Amino acid sequence: MYQRPSILITAGPTHEPIDAVRYIANRSSGRMGLALAHAAVDAGYEVTLLLGPIAGDREISSGIAVHRYESTADLAALLNTHFDDCDTLIMAAAVADYRPTAGSRADEKLERGEKFALELEPTPDLVADCARRARDDQRVIGFALESADELSERAPRKLARKGLFAIVANPLETIDADTIDATVTTAAGESHQPGAMSKSEFARWLIDWVASTR
Ligand code: CTP
Repeated sequence: MYQRPSILITAGPTHEPIDAVRYIANRSSGRMGLALAHAAVDAGYEVTLLLGPIAGDREISSGIAVHRYESTADLAALLNTHFDDCDTLIMAAAVADYRPTAGSRADEKLERGEKFALELEPTPDLVADCARRARDDQRVIGFALESADELSERAPRKLARKGLFAIVANPLETIDADTIDATVTTAAGESHQPGAMSKSEFARWLIDWVASTR
C-alpha cells in the first residue's frame, strides 16, 4: 500500500521554569511552524506538529496530529517518541539555549527577599541530536536566526556543526513578524533565496522545495 511521506514539524517558543509560576521564554509566535504544518497537509504529507506554548487561539487543521510541549525537556521527550517515524524533520521551534539548573525551585514559588543569582545551564541541542541519530532516508532541516550582516557566514557554520540536511536562515526581524526573507543553504552547498514573502507563502515554497529534493 502507498504510504504518504511523513513530516515532523516543531513550532513556537519554549518555557523554561524558574519556579512553580515563572519561566524564561522568547518572542517566537509559532507562526512559521504552523504555516509549514498547513502547507505540508495541503501537499499531501502526513503531518505531526510539536507545538509550544503560543499565545492566543490558532486554527489548526484537523489533518494535523498535534502534541503540545512547554519546556525544552518536554520537546526532547516528544522528539524521542516521534522522530523515528518521520521522513523529514523541520525544526522551526525557538528552543532556549539556557535553562535554570535542574533541581531549582520548580515545585515552589519564590518569595521576595534577598537578591539571589539564577543559575543557568545550556540546553541539549535537540536538532543536532536528531541529525546524529537520523537514518540515511531521513532529512533534518533547522532554522537559524541571525543578524542580517552575520547571516551568510554563521548559517553555513551552524548547518555543518549540527549535521543538518539544510538550514533556513532568517534575519532577527523575522521573529514574531508576518513576513520572512530567508536563505536556505544545504549541506551539498546549494543556496536559495526565494525573496521576502508572507510566512504562508514561504511555507508553501519550502514544502515544495523539500519535495523536489527527494
Ligand atoms: N535548536 C535546538 N536545540 C537547542 C537550540 C536550538 O534544536 N537547544 C535548534 C533550533 O530549533 C533551530 C536551530 O537549532 O532549528 C538553530 O537555533 P539557534 O538558536 O539559531 O542556534 P543555536 O544552536 O542556539 O546557536 P547560537 O545560539 O549560538 O546562535
